[in-house]
Amino acid sequence: MTGPGSVDLRTTYLGLQLSSPIVASAGPLTRDVDGAKALADAGVGALVLPSLFEEEIVAEEVGLSLALEAGSQHFAEALDYFPTVTSFTSMADQYLEQLEQTKKAVEVPVIASLNASSTGGWVRYAKLLAETGVDALELNVYRVPTDPQLTAAQVEDTDLALIANVCASVSLPVAVKLSPYYSSMASFASRVVASGASGLVLFNRFYQPDLDLETMDVVSKVELSRAWELRLPLRWIAILRPQLGPGPSLAATSGVHTGSDVVKVLAVGSDVAMMTSALLRLGPTHVSFVESELRSWLAGHDYTSVAELRGSVSQATSIDASAFERANYLKTLHSWMTVDQHPVPGLD
Ligand SMILES: Cc1cc2nc3c(=O)[nH]c(=O)nc-3n(C[C@H](O)[C@H](O)[C@H](O)COP(=O)(O)O)c2cc1C
Repeated sequence: MTGPGSVDLRTTYLGLQLSSPIVASAGPLTRDVDGAKALADAGVGALVLPSLFEEEIVAEEVGLSLALEAGSQHFAEALDYFPTVTSFTSMADQYLEQLEQTKKAVEVPVIASLNASSTGGWVRYAKLLAETGVDALELNVYRVPTDPQLTAAQVEDTDLALIANVCASVSLPVAVKLSPYYSSMASFASRVVASGASGLVLFNRFYQPDLDLETMDVVSKVELSRAWELRLPLRWIAILRPQLGPGPSLAATSGVHTGSDVVKVLAVGSDVAMMTSALLRLGPTHVSFVESELRSWLAGHDYTSVAELRGSVSQATSIDASAFERANYLKTLHSWMTVDQHPVPGLD
């Protein structure tokens, strides 16, 4: 029997060899070099930096060109003003610098992230990020389609064009972080892969606005994830892994908090389990704890490696993914009806 210490945790993600399937997803802890180092020391297999956001860059570029235009039209002496412009450190420059420093400071693979909803200048930024020596790119396609004239097919086509453009512009592997709100996820996921993505990151969390009833203001507040949120990536990775085959990488994100969660997402076919909320709550050292839970579970269930566990559940149960879904639905509803009493916190 293998002891926990000798379980082989290695995994391949986006063609990169990782020493562990536990990955720090984009978030505040990977923003600075010290945070990245602490996570690497605690044993993450890779790091995803926070995203460079389309809105930040667009706003900055518009501001910069307005400043340049105003200067050229109105006063030549405004050129004196340009030192601030030439020494202007844009968000993108700061981000590139941060990437380079992080890449130098840690030995684990570093993944840069772009958060975009339109094609535009993104290809240029994707190229700049790739030139910093990062190991891969993550493209977070985040949008809320509110135009009633826009059909689901149009939304998908626009997103696929963006994805294809970014993938074609860099030689690095690109993972696409998706929301769960596409109406035909299985079809869309396979088209994302056909557009050049090397992997999918499932799923992006949408931060929903709330209302403050005293001021009647819209309140935007980040809530960290809850354990039940794991169910969505778990279900979809179980469905998609057999459909997509072993080629594309799959990363689970949302609700991965414990070693058992990592076991679950690997069992349904993920290559890596990504974490942000749990690391924000408990600090970077939580990675070591999750790793030891993962090792103990694997050793205790006679697995010698992560590779042996990966996809074992999805292969066994997802021959007909939609039947699996329906059966689960009925079973879940019946399980509620047959239980005598369910205490509901806050409702009793
Ligand atoms: C404070 C905070 C900042 C985040 N920033 C980013 C980001 O810049 N880009 C991104 O793609 N995801 C970002 N995320 C989402 C996380 O990467 C992750 O996908 C999500 O929180 C779900 O995983 P979790 O349950 O482990 O938190 C952020 C999450 C939090 C909580």
